[in-house]
Amino acid sequence: MQEGKVFVFDHPLIQHKMAILRNKETGTKDFRALVKELATLMVYEVTKDLPLKEVEIETPIAKMQAHMLADKPVTLVPILRAGLGMVDGVTTLIPTAKVGHLGMYRDPVRHEPCEYYCKMPAEVADSTVIVLDPMFATGGSVNAAVNVLKNKYHCKDIRLVCLVAARPGVERIQKAHPDLAVYCAALDDKLNEHDYIVPGLGDAGDRIFGTK
Ligand code: PRP
Ligand code: URA
Repeated sequence: MQEGKVFVFDHPLIQHKMAILRNKETGTKDFRALVKELATLMVYEVTKDLPLKEVEIETPIAKMQAHMLADKPVTLVPILRAGLGMVDGVTTLIPTAKVGHLGMYRDPVRHEPCEYYCKMPAEVADSTVIVLDPMFATGGSVNAAVNVLKNKYHCKDIRLVCLVAARPGVERIQKAHPDLAVYCAALDDKLNEHDYIVPGLGDAGDRIFGTK
């Protein structure tokens, strides 16, 4: 399903894996594996407009013009911590992707993002940048990440891949960054009093890393 620049996957495999992921009985080992698998499944749609170049190759039978990815780099930007869980799933299909790390945590009182780490590859400005974060709640973290990528690193082609997005976050980002394409495996309606997504899946970082 697509609403403007927001794409919600309705593929049966993705819905099936999301049901297991959301279940509170799913433990760290399975949760981590599912986050990775979901990221891989989403890559096809997210990269469907990557530029191609024509190349001449020779099959065992004849010469032909074929298509390969053009030289535009792809940079993955996981928002730490939870975004790290999606990196391997994407590099399974794009092994040449560079990875820039952006460390942010939500202040427990105001729920606003605090940046604590940032390291980007040199070619990030000219890359197709894929921001990775399983949870897109108020949109504060993604908004801050996109601000950094645009203002400090001059990125022009940025897209977000998340697992659960919440409508308040989507509405916020559409106003702040109407050019940002958002790909999510589920779109939930609301947030609770702690700004957690309802029904969501709980704290993604804790469930990936087993910290709670
Ligand atoms: C979570 C999540 C997002 C953010 C989403 O990170 O991984 O980065 O919250 O919330 P928002 O849309 O309201 O900004 P958290 O702050 O829990 O850090 P962690 O990944 O280190 O656990
Ligand atoms: N961060 C999470 O990990 N989960 C939420 O529901 C909201 C923010």
